Amino acid sequence: MASVDSDLENVLVIERELWKDGPPHELFGRLRRECPVHWSERMTVYPEEDGFWSVTTAQDIHTISRDWQTYSSELGGVTAARVGFPLELLRAMFIGMDPPKHDRLKALFQSGFTPKRIADHEDEIRAITVGVLERLDGRESCDLVVDVAQPVVSRVIGSFMGIPAEDDAIWARLMNSTLGASDLDVNPYGIEGAMERDVPEIFERCRKLIAERRERPTDDFTSVLVNAEVEGEKLEEHEIVMGFFLLVAAGNDSTKATYCSGMRALIENPEQRQLLLEEPGLIPGAVEESLRMFPAFAHFRRTATCDTELHGQQIREGEKVIMWYASSNRDESRYEDPDRFDVRRTTEHQAFGAGGRHFCLGTALARLELRILFEETLARYPAMELAGAPAFVESPFINQLKTLPVRLIPAA
Ligand code: HEM
Repeated sequence: MASVDSDLENVLVIERELWKDGPPHELFGRLRRECPVHWSERMTVYPEEDGFWSVTTAQDIHTISRDWQTYSSELGGVTAARVGFPLELLRAMFIGMDPPKHDRLKALFQSGFTPKRIADHEDEIRAITVGVLERLDGRESCDLVVDVAQPVVSRVIGSFMGIPAEDDAIWARLMNSTLGASDLDVNPYGIEGAMERDVPEIFERCRKLIAERRERPTDDFTSVLVNAEVEGEKLEEHEIVMGFFLLVAAGNDSTKATYCSGMRALIENPEQRQLLLEEPGLIPGAVEESLRMFPAFAHFRRTATCDTELHGQQIREGEKVIMWYASSNRDESRYEDPDRFDVRRTTEHQAFGAGGRHFCLGTALARLELRILFEETLARYPAMELAGAPAFVESPFINQLKTLPVRLIPAA
């Protein structure tokens, strides 16, 4: 390895202190410039987990994402810390599989998530969004995370999956506590507590829904999973459960995170918000810029299948390799003035992954949901202001606000 300043050499990138206010952007900037493939000996948040390589530039992440033969999603899971989920269950989700099994299962899901199929849901998603925003009528302030983002994303993914609306809040709690397990505000039971308490509940509820759909299929996605066949064979129950979990988890956290961070950026950059108010056609650009600057997942992980070399750095078989999207999306070799929120920017980003086999399945749905959320919120509350300090979920994985208090200030 090229010689590195000893302060960087000893840095543990997943150190609780570093992630209190979201991703450590200053540190990532230094890593990109001085040590783009960096070794952390261990993680303080999950002390039982092994050390890991941090990859921080867009080019290196692009290389890893397209080389599944060298960088596996199946060998060791897809996040820096496995947080209690046994590997066997992670491997029952196609996000945790390598080809060829991954490709067969993903193809099955893809048919329901094409841009055309998703576009058919525009009216329904707008009605859900408007319904949630109308509940704010007469209020002076609210928390955008709790009062807007959560109920909208829960109902959208809930209606896709066939979850009854009255169960949305239960599913939101289960998803937030398992994915944000390291934050005691989101999950007061601690990481182990969440796994012992919430994971069995997820399974039980899922099995119940699956049994109902076996008996009476509908047009929701759970029915598709129940009846799907891959090479002439039906999916096993744990594959259906984990497929369901993957979609509900991905649909819950990601869009919510991007909407809230994007709205905060618009409040803090009123000249950018003004551009959108004058020219709503720029809103898809604001969505992309929010995805770039605030990728909902700060990282995904691969495991080296063999000894290899990346950016001049030797990586050994079995070692963890973390792709920090929170860093690559601000890579100065790709973006001019990367920390500036600019709704007119057009450069591609890696919030949905960097291409390759595991590129996000839900891009069309996420983009549609976000566009509608931005459009409807800005139309009603064009002058919204912060009403308190926003706070991040304390997590090196989900890059998300847990509170965003705002004064609503309705349009005249
Ligand atoms: C703002 C919204 C979203 C963001 C930022 C996002 C981000 C990502 C990223 C980074 C990956 C790649 C993981 C990797 O490289 O290993 C991914 C995969 C995935 N996403 Fe999303 N996602 C979003 C919304 C959604 C939605 C709404 C759904 C579906 C309901 C979804 C379903 C999935 C699935 C199933 C995968 C696994 C794909 C595979 O392994 O082949 N995502 N997402």
